[in-house]
Amino acid sequence: MSEKELRKRILCIGAGYVGGPTMAMIAAKCPQHEVTIVDINAERIAAWQTDELPIFEPGLLEVVKQVRDKNLFFSTDIDENIKKADIIFVSVNTPTKTYGEGAGKAADLQFWEKTARNIINAAESDKIIIEKSTLPVRTADAMERILSVNTKGLHFDILSNPEFLAEGSAIKDLEDPDRVLIGSRETESGLKARNEIVDIYANWIPRDKILTSNLWSAELSKLVANAFLAQRISSINSISALCEKTEANVKEVANAIGTDSRISSKFLNASVGFGGSCFKKDILNLVYICESYGLHEVAEYWEQVVSINDYQEKRFVKNMISLMFNTVSGKNIALFGFAFKANTGDTRESPAIYVARHLLNEHANLSITDPKALENAKADLKEHSSSICFTEDPYEAAKNAHAIAILTEWDTYKDLDYEKIFDSMEKPAFIFDGRDILDHEKLFKIGFNVSAIGKPQMKHF
Ligand code: NAD
Ligand code: UGA
Repeated sequence: MSEKELRKRILCIGAGYVGGPTMAMIAAKCPQHEVTIVDINAERIAAWQTDELPIFEPGLLEVVKQVRDKNLFFSTDIDENIKKADIIFVSVNTPTKTYGEGAGKAADLQFWEKTARNIINAAESDKIIIEKSTLPVRTADAMERILSVNTKGLHFDILSNPEFLAEGSAIKDLEDPDRVLIGSRETESGLKARNEIVDIYANWIPRDKILTSNLWSAELSKLVANAFLAQRISSINSISALCEKTEANVKEVANAIGTDSRISSKFLNASVGFGGSCFKKDILNLVYICESYGLHEVAEYWEQVVSINDYQEKRFVKNMISLMFNTVSGKNIALFGFAFKANTGDTRESPAIYVARHLLNEHANLSITDPKALENAKADLKEHSSSICFTEDPYEAAKNAHAIAILTEWDTYKDLDYEKIFDSMEKPAFIFDGRDILDHEKLFKIGFNVSAIGKPQMKHF
């Protein structure tokens, strides 16, 4: 086979947190293929072509620079690139619906459907279309129906290749994933298309890590993976509440249960709550799908994972207020971290948003610090901007504060000079560790009153 025949034109529609890094990795690992990413957001496309990428992700800029303008291209010309493509990944956003039937739970598929219509209008040859976005199970059915009404006699194979990367570790996750999952129709044409996609990933991923399945298993597995991961966090968070009442220490409990290889130690860090753009939306989507099939008990079971998360966020703020003598009105509170997790600037569904809004409603003055997420934090809280000071310097944020709340587990917060911070604060000084990352005994000795998730409080009064 000549090199020209081997060369595939791969297109990705959607240049976001998933489309950008996944396509950069494919381009880096498959120099024989040409990869283009398109988006309706011209600003994002422009940023991908600079060294100020539109998202912060460790190691991403290096990968992008290695392939940009060689076999990785960015464009806003969606139709022209659809025409040229052999394989189209669709990685548009699929947020929770905010209107009409299923509002608050179902996935909003308007962006997804728009791309299907773009493909029918622009395509002039057969193509493989791949669901990269997270979608409700059986979405490919609807996609097939939309695409099959084309009058040009074209054939489209729809595949599901859900993405399992986590933000902050995306490059590592893409380079060395636990698995890649590719679902297809099990027809001759579906299996042929599936093999083509397997061959792309096989450029760097061992074959035994490339799982194949039918379409519906692949679509459903993505929702279920996120539901199981979030369930572990809600499980340990529910136990953190019990630890606080019983003088047990949630870290010790997590360690004790996590050494059982059947349970495993990952994803057992108790916290102020899980955030991120996907856990809540994907579980609510799963709940909605179960309800629509009449599986009400199953729906209720999974909905509890989200309810416990809401409870944990509320519990954290209520505890802050109650320990600070039942009022935070007029008090200065420093929030250390605003991103939904460390190593990202993303604040979507960050528990920090809930904590900040609640404290502001109680008339607290906030200073917010975060190494990467301040611009997003400003946008999230724009209606309150006059009562908030934003600074990249945690020492500045803590100056004259009555309390500090650790909301993101950035490593840098572990190594600060807490004696210096204590001296600059109002007394009595409080630390609320929403991520259990600090040395609480040491802080108590310095003079802080310390309250950490899942641990007994340490007070000087
Ligand atoms: P995102 O919002 O960062 O990016 C989506 C992009 O799609 C946006 O830039 C938007 O402008 C673009 N877009 C929307 N409609 C379009 C259209 N018709 N034509 C061209 N571009 C269009 O979203 P994301 O975080 O990358 O998530 C994308 C999907 O991947 C979602 O379904 C999400 O659930 C899933 N997912 C996300 C992650 C993650 O870590 N963020 C991980 C795994 C899976
Ligand atoms: C998550 C999944 O881990 C990915 O596999 C999936 O692809 C992705 O969702 C998605 O579909 O979007 P992500 O949200 O980027 O990835 O980050 P996680 O590391 O899963 O963390 C999610 C939230 O849970 C964060 O707020 C984190 O701080 C919190 N968390 C995580 C805990 O509170 N405790 C833990 O033990 C682990």
